[in-house]
Amino acid sequence: MEIIRTPVAMTAWANRMIAAGDSIALVPTMGYFHEGHLSLMRQARKLAKRVVVSLFVNPIQFGPQEDLARYPRDFDRDAALAEQEGVDVLFAPAVAAMYPEGSRTRVAVAGLTGGLCGGSRPGHFEGVTTVVAKLFHLVKPRFAVFGQKDFQQLAVIRRMTADLNWDIEIVGHSIVREADGLAMSSRNVYLSAGERQSALGLSRAIRHARQRVREGLADAAMLLREVREILTATPGIAVEYVECVDEKTLAPAARLAPGVVLAMAARVGTTRLIDNDDLFAEEVK
Ligand code: PAF
Repeated sequence: MEIIRTPVAMTAWANRMIAAGDSIALVPTMGYFHEGHLSLMRQARKLAKRVVVSLFVNPIQFGPQEDLARYPRDFDRDAALAEQEGVDVLFAPAVAAMYPEGSRTRVAVAGLTGGLCGGSRPGHFEGVTTVVAKLFHLVKPRFAVFGQKDFQQLAVIRRMTADLNWDIEIVGHSIVREADGLAMSSRNVYLSAGERQSALGLSRAIRHARQRVREGLADAAMLLREVREILTATPGIAVEYVECVDEKTLAPAARLAPGVVLAMAARVGTTRLIDNDDLFAEEVK
């Protein structure tokens, strides 16, 4: 596996691969790999001849009060794991290489970014779309693989890719969960043992919602009331939002039907967790 540190070297590599007729799949990450990231890499491996994983803790997607400084990092472990997964390139640029002095341009997707996570994280999605747009230009992928846990991010990136006419297939990968149901996240490392127990309230609420949909419940407001009750009854959880939305437009849904996603964010201690579920998918992901 090659480790590439500069945008210029990254693009030179991508140009060489494309000239040789090789397609590229990109897995954008902020590192501190867990099984969820590794499953994205495996999916990428199936899609293209070459796999690039970017590892970049993108400062412009963190608000001033957020966890940029303490975001977990372990480059050597991440590099070893990526290598084990048969990744061709780990692209790990420095902040100054991605945002050199004088850099001013931002890429923003209007409309989809004001609600849900965008409501409590102003500027977050602009930071995400800016860095992902830069990665798309540098890596020239034919496929890009993202986790469905960041469900709003996936919808925003799909919109950006379509709007900017990129010939890139955006592939969403199902949420990978711990055996007890907790959605895998690099931020789970912040949770104390007690907080981790509280955090299970999110997947419990999702299981309840799936059960209610299976029973035939179609009223989104009723489902949301029940889900909120489960969350607020769990000690240690402070709910930020719980919504049923259309998976593409993110508009609130009144009726539960295929294409509607239950999405939630909550604080457990100082850790902000998100989770979601496509309530009509075959089985709990
Ligand atoms: O999902 C993430 O880890 C990040 O938001 C991403 C897509 C790598 C952009 O920094």
